[in-house]
Amino acid sequence: MMIRKPIGMLDSGVGGLTVLKAVKERLPHESFVYIGDTLRNPYGNKEEKDIITYTLQLADFLVSQGVKMIVIACNTATAQALKEVSQRVSVPVIGVIVPGSEAAAKLSQTKKVGVLATRSTVDSGFYEETIKSFDSDISIESLACPQFVDLVEQNDYRSENAKKVVAETLEPFKTATMDTLILGCTHFPLLAPFIQEVMGEDVTLIDSGALTSQAIERVLEEEQTRAEADGNPSVQLYTTGSKDAFKKIAKDWLETDQFTIETIALERLTDKHGRNEHSSHCDSK
Ligand code: DGL
Repeated sequence: MMIRKPIGMLDSGVGGLTVLKAVKERLPHESFVYIGDTLRNPYGNKEEKDIITYTLQLADFLVSQGVKMIVIACNTATAQALKEVSQRVSVPVIGVIVPGSEAAAKLSQTKKVGVLATRSTVDSGFYEETIKSFDSDISIESLACPQFVDLVEQNDYRSENAKKVVAETLEPFKTATMDTLILGCTHFPLLAPFIQEVMGEDVTLIDSGALTSQAIERVLEEEQTRAEADGNPSVQLYTTGSKDAFKKIAKDWLETDQFTIETIALERLTDKHGRNEHSSHCDSK
């Protein structure tokens, strides 16, 4: 039965766990299958065509696991591949950029919004376009912060070094007049305390995870696939990289060890022609 099926989530690494945490809190009866492409992380400095190929491989894997919807819990993959994934699979697909953009457009009083993201997301212009579609009077300043992704993937996000890197990277934003700042990369909420410290309490940080969970709930309601309280919800994590490193971050961040984790070899996601071996599942749905 569809309602008992898990929600699928994908990211280039551990960043999407920030979305998973928020969604689990809002929808505690749901099960999840999450895949983080740690081995090929970061996506944020890769070419568009590679990001699309990798994201489709992850989406096909999730479909092969029988998910009822796919959440692209990665801004970079959302910016580059939301359209391609939506066209390929027959389950509903949602990304993380629209919910955060809508919230920022509504919240900003000064009509000045900042976006912190990867180089690829900044260059895509997806945030500017989406925020302006909600309020064309808003001006947007974006800053690429690729170093933040490495800090988080290396589990170094609580250190003095992380604090220093955040302060140095945000230097160009310190004099900006924005009142709302979008954490436009799912890795960044782990650095939120340091980001808030630099920007000051008057700047509201927007974490797309929490906002995306409302959008997911709406989709489940519309599709009538929302899980009921009588199930036995599970969380299955997959990484293309080291299981131990991923597990440590997942345990700390999710504040639970109620999940299973497996490494999945890249060859299981791709065949030698670069196509996905699971695409038949996807096409036959
Ligand atoms: N977590 C991803 C995002 O939201 C990307 C990080 C990366 O792989 O560069 O953009």
